[in-house]
Amino acid sequence: MINSGEKISRNAPGALRLGAIELPGRAFLAPMSGITDIGMRRVASRCGAGLVISEMVAANFYIAADEETRLRAEGEGLPVHVVQIAGREPLALAEAARLAEAAGAHAIDINMGCPAKRVVGGYAGSALMREPDLALSLVRAVVAAVTAPVSVKMRLGWDADSLNAPVLARAMEAEGVALITVHGRTRNQFYKGRADWAAIRAVREAISIPLVANGDCASLADARAMLAASGADAAMIGRAAMGRPWLVGEIAAGLDGRPWRAPSPRERANAALEHYRTLLDLFGERQGVRHARKHLAAYADHAMDEGMGLSPAMRTKLVTTTDAQEAADLLEQAFQSAQELAA
Ligand SMILES: Cc1cc2nc3c(=O)[nH]c(=O)nc-3n(C[C@H](O)[C@H](O)[C@H](O)COP(=O)(O)O)c2cc1C
Repeated sequence: MINSGEKISRNAPGALRLGAIELPGRAFLAPMSGITDIGMRRVASRCGAGLVISEMVAANFYIAADEETRLRAEGEGLPVHVVQIAGREPLALAEAARLAEAAGAHAIDINMGCPAKRVVGGYAGSALMREPDLALSLVRAVVAAVTAPVSVKMRLGWDADSLNAPVLARAMEAEGVALITVHGRTRNQFYKGRADWAAIRAVREAISIPLVANGDCASLADARAMLAASGADAAMIGRAAMGRPWLVGEIAAGLDGRPWRAPSPRERANAALEHYRTLLDLFGERQGVRHARKHLAAYADHAMDEGMGLSPAMRTKLVTTTDAQEAADLLEQAFQSAQELAA
């Protein structure tokens, strides 16, 4: 248990650490499979996110050098590169962590929060919260395998009758885990209802390593309320950052009271184009255009919300075209005002 004075000093600007790594802000981009590719993580990081975490990487696939899995774990150009691994075999998780560190990861995150049936059905992700002994042996194996700091992302528990995140988090701290993230839902809630930020406070009371709160944070006001309710050191933002990865930097600046200049439409267009081109480089033009579609739609929709944007017909074209250059042109136009488009 820590006293409130220690909590205040750890919340001082610039003091948040992941192991020995000092983090530049207290708003993080959440790991999201199929979403937080290296293009999105680079943009978020450059725009001021305190930390970005890779998509979940299945340990066995990573060890088998599966190409798609390797791309998920790509970290080139990131100041702090965190690879999230998932699995339920200590030796495999340890080996995947070792390989990720050898490939340049500065930190390893272990997934104990994914509710997906295909992950839970393999008894990984949040299913591990029902097997605390196994969960701890995975953590022990990974901590022993790497010199990089190890973090864990979990939920409040499996269901409302088993809210074991505090007990598990405390035991993980004793095993050498450097940071814990808690998504304020149980596994059985999937993504339903509202995340319970106040319920995360029980984890705050149980650990003294940095705590990150997650779930339904979409603005600076949300982040402030989430940190106040949970006592966490940092806020993690997932879905709300799609189509506007700079949001994480905006929240990080606001939490530290640093000035924030919103990126201009031109800067936003450039960031979106850089993200898009990264996907084309990574996956090749044919697959890259398809992979990018969910991002293209999200960029276009946020631009429309802010009074810029495409006509409905052009938006449809943006998310259906197989012509990489046409998509790039439309994406650029999405950040122009109606007057600019007409000119
Ligand atoms: C499409 C999608 C993919 C996700 N993939 C992962 C993942 O790979 N690893 C993980 O720990 N959490 C994953 N999550 C959960 C998010 O990290 C986060 O906990 C959740 O979305 C709640 O935060 P939010 O309300 O800010 O989106 C995923 C969520 C979504 C929506």
